[in-house]
Order: sequence, then C-alpha cells, then structure tokens
Amino acid sequence: MNIALLGFGVVCGGVYDILKNMPEYNVKKILIRNPAKLTMDCMTLDFADIENDSEIDLVVEAIGGLHPAREYILAALNAKKHVVTANKAVVAAYFDEFVAAAKENGVKFMVEATSGGGIPWIKNLQRVGRIDKVTKLHGIMNGTSNFILSAMTCEGKDFSDVLKTAQELGYAEADPSADIDGDDVRNKCAISAAIAFDTKVDVNSIMQAGIRHITKADIDWFKENGLVCKLFATAVCDKDNFDAVVEPVLLGCDTVEANVPKNYNITCLYGETIGEVKLYGQGAGGLPTGNAIVQDIIDINTNNAFDISFGKEMNKAEIIRGKYYIRIPAGLENYTEFIGDITEKTFTLGDDTVVVTTETTPAKIHSLLDANKDKAVFVARYF
Ligand SMILES: NC(=O)c1ccc[n+]([C@@H]2O[C@H](COP(=O)([O-])OP(=O)(O)OC[C@H]3O[C@@H](n4cnc5c(N)ncnc54)[C@H](OP(=O)(O)O)[C@@H]3O)[C@@H](O)[C@H]2O)c1
Repeated sequence: MNIALLGFGVVCGGVYDILKNMPEYNVKKILIRNPAKLTMDCMTLDFADIENDSEIDLVVEAIGGLHPAREYILAALNAKKHVVTANKAVVAAYFDEFVAAAKENGVKFMVEATSGGGIPWIKNLQRVGRIDKVTKLHGIMNGTSNFILSAMTCEGKDFSDVLKTAQELGYAEADPSADIDGDDVRNKCAISAAIAFDTKVDVNSIMQAGIRHITKADIDWFKENGLVCKLFATAVCDKDNFDAVVEPVLLGCDTVEANVPKNYNITCLYGETIGEVKLYGQGAGGLPTGNAIVQDIIDINTNNAFDISFGKEMNKAEIIRGKYYIRIPAGLENYTEFIGDITEKTFTLGDDTVVVTTETTPAKIHSLLDANKDKAVFVARYF
C-alpha cells in the first residue's frame, strides 16, 4: 500500500517510525511546508504531487488546524484515496462532510487517533455498537489537564506551578488554553458521541468548562471530603435524544477514574449487554498516536475498517444532571440570580463563597459561567 503523510511533526514522525518496519506499507510522499526541512527525496512542498499521484492509496493527515487540513482531506477523498487523520479539530468541525465525501468516493475515512491517542477507543465504540446501543460514555481525554490535576492532588502544588512544570516537560503548549479550558476535550467528546450514538453532533452545542480557575484550596476541600477532581467529557443518549458536556467532575477517591495518574487518559462506555468498559492508556505522543493511525491503515488495507454512517436523527436535549460545587470569588454579587433557587448549602473558602447545588442541568450552571467569563468562578459536577 502506498501512503502519503501530510505533515512530519510528532504524529507523522511516529507513523513513519512504525511503518519503517512494515515493508508492505510504503511511505511514498511526505508533504511539508518549510523548504529548509526538505531532507528526504519523498518530501514535497506541493499537495498536488500527492493529490495527482494515482499510485497513492491512502493519505495520513496530521498537520493540525482547520485549514488547509479540511481542503486537503476533501481533495484526497475526492481523488479516491482513503484518509486517516489525527486532527480532532477538523474532524469535530466537518465530520459529516468528510464521511459523506468518503461514501461518495467509495473510500474510508478513519479517526481513531483523534480521540484517546493510543487507546483503541473509536474502534471499540464501533465494535460494541454492533451488538449494543452505547447509552453513555465519559472519560479523561486530555493528558495535560490530567497531569495538572494529578500533581495538584498528589503533590499539593498550586495550579500555576504545575502548569509551568507541564510546559517545561512539553506536556503543555506555551498557550495552554486548548488543554485547560476544555476545547481539546470538547472536540474529542463530539467525535466520540457521534460515533457512539451514530448521529451528527454539532461540536458548538457542547457546553464546556475547564480547570483554569481551580485552586489549591478547592483541591484541599475535595481531599477532606474524599473527592478527586478530573476534567471529563460526558455524553449520554436516551431514545432519540442525546446530551454531552465537558466540565470538571468530582469523583470518589477510590474510583478507577480518580486514580488515573500523570498525563494518562481513560475512556469509558456503557452498553446494554456488555455493561461498563474502561480503556486506559497514553492519550498522546508520537508513537502511541502513530500506533492508532497505523491500526486504521491496517484495518483499511485488510478490509476490516468499520463504516461511519451517522444513520440516526437525534436531537440534543438536557439529559445530563448533577449536583455542582461552585466556588464564587469575593465581590461577585450576581450569582444568586443564576443559582439562588438551586442552592443546597453554602460555606466560605478563604475569601470566596462555595455553593453546593441541588441536582440541576449543566445549562443552568454554564449560564452563570457565561455571564461571568472574566471572573475566576470554578465549577465541578458531582459524578
Ligand atoms: N501530538 C500528539 O500527541 C497528538 C495526539 C493526538 C492527536 N494529535 C493531533 O495531530 C495533529 C498533528 O499534531 P502534531 O503533534 O504532530 O503537530 P506538530 O508536531 O506540530 O506537526 C505538525 C506538522 O505539520 C506541518 N504542517 C503544518 N501545516 C502544514 C501545511 N499547511 N502544509 C504542510 N505541512 C504543514 C508542520 O510543519 P512545520 O514543522 O513547518 O511547522 C509539522 O511538520 C494535530 O491535529 C493534533 O491535534 C496530536
């Protein structure tokens, strides 16, 4: 099988290293964008060299971002080449367009590496879906935020100190917002829900809250109360409706998810006959993510790839409910407008007020966050 790689960074570097030892797979061309990095004969600066090469069967896209990734993926599919991608942002935004183009051209579009890195998550969602309706999924799907929360919990450190360490270790970007504000998890949540529930999911309809405002005082209070905080993607479905949200959750300290260490990920699903399944592993990195891509390549080459169809018409509805821990900074007076009617108890934490709510919906809590975006309000749902 002749393969082209788009990009040659962390992920495509990992794919290249794995395929090097698999002679039946030939990396025929690699698209890069910087002429100074043209170090191999197979490298090109021109995507048309790949699009117009009829010997190339499959294109791996790992350049990241929305554009020109979207255009390259569509052009490759329309040139009747299979596409395997790790780019969660472009898939979350244009999943149905890619699936339709793949179908029209009789080729495969595969996304294992977008969600959960090396964890065989997407394939198992599809496999479980052959027998069961997947009714719920959740998971820790961002290694950077888990690294930060784990270090705060286990080592008692402040958020800013741990973020700095994560940046020094290369786990967090100089601009960490995609990881700590939940954007990255939201993309993975949208892709996972679309696969699990076999329906189109508008990524922008998924509410998100991150861990930017969590403090040592929050973590200390959670510990005193036998709780551990993790950033979760959660999605559920009920008949023709589904719901999904990305936000911090509070877990009992003896749960499997609470004990996921460092930058590891865990993904969990519930099926009617299989019950609960939890998959744990490396959610990122060149070789684990490269491994997920090569698994997709092998599945395509051996005719073992699942079709993605989005066969069900489903509506987004308010299904997820829970009690929330909300820490409100001193001076934020308007909070009772939003949560006065669902307050179960309040107490002070330093200068701040904490409200524990009665059971409610994410929409109710996120309306408070949206109205106070510039304030350091921290929320977490009791899971
Ligand atoms: N890193 C991970 O562990 C991981 C895990 C799962 C998914 N992903 C996803 O995989 C994708 C790639 O991530 P990565 O970590 O491999 O990124 P990366 O190390 O920054 O590599 C991206 C590569 O693409 C090249 N590139 C960017 N735009 C291009 C263009 N227009 N034309 C040609 N080449 C272009 C870059 O070239 P330059 O060197 O010139 O910048 C670089 O070689 C992202 O969507 C990411 O979200 C990453």
